[in-house]
Amino acid sequence: MLRIEKLTKRFGANVAVDAADLTVDKPCMIGIIGRSGAGKSTVLRMINRLADATEGKILFEGRDVTNLTGSAKRAWQAECAMIFQQFNLVPRMDVVSNVLHGTLNKRSTFATMFNLYPTEDIHRAIEILDRLGIAEHAPKRAEALSGGQQQRVAIARALMQDPRIILADEPIASLDPMNAQTVMEALRRIHEEDGRTVICNLHTLDTARRYCDRVIGMRAGRIVFDGLPEQLTTAMAREIYGADASFSEAATSTELETLARSEAAAAMIREAEASA
Ligand SMILES: Nc1ncnc2c1ncn2[C@@H]1O[C@H](COP(=O)(O)OP(=O)(O)O)[C@@H](O)[C@H]1O
Ligand SMILES: [Mg+2]
Repeated sequence: MLRIEKLTKRFGANVAVDAADLTVDKPCMIGIIGRSGAGKSTVLRMINRLADATEGKILFEGRDVTNLTGSAKRAWQAECAMIFQQFNLVPRMDVVSNVLHGTLNKRSTFATMFNLYPTEDIHRAIEILDRLGIAEHAPKRAEALSGGQQQRVAIARALMQDPRIILADEPIASLDPMNAQTVMEALRRIHEEDGRTVICNLHTLDTARRYCDRVIGMRAGRIVFDGLPEQLTTAMAREIYGADASFSEAATSTELETLARSEAAAAMIREAEASA
């Protein structure tokens, strides 16, 4: 399906991504891990064509998308919808309009200017919100929602484009553990139920292990690991994160521990409520 060949991005003398190769031959959920500055965002941005590759190729189903321009480029960008750490919603606009923005690529300037959306699109937007468990928030302003809800709105906006691939750049980095779990579960479901490929930059190993079928480790612009979560040993993790001998898996697992604690707390509250 998706094939990346020797993909490289240079910023002056700095090599942000260094001859990255990647083949995805069936829909799957991939986690890209690595330290800050390893090149994770740049890889996703090049795939989505938000950034141009310096060298190398991006092929989707045999089609070279590396140098598409104009409407062909916009069509490709709709096929590989992107989700960001900061949600990138219009804060003062209502939720359903934010989701409808996902159809912007396909609408005329006139329709966009006057906020005219076909009824079937509005129905579809609500359906998608419902699927993500946030339909009741449809009329609210985006800024009134919690971070986890806002990220689900961003996912809904992406789904509006009916993408083959979802590229998520640190989608849970700004969320508390409970919201992080909801968002990762939503992405996982979208992969499993719709057969869409999800490629997700994550800075913690445990999240990648927990939700992804395949993990890619990047260090200093290079892909240094590409395999199954269970193949990712502590020694390999140490290599990816470039940590010294004091590196321990626990250092990247704080999120999971917090999550386990908050899950235990939630269970206790439920029990207390049930017996009250
Ligand atoms: N627009 C840019 N201009 C110059 N350097 C950049 C730009 N974007 C990223 N970089 C550099 O490229 C490298 C990889 O960055 P990035 O892809 O953001 O890493 P990550 O997402 O893994 O934290 C870093 O050294 C970063 O400073
Ligand atoms: Mg990044």
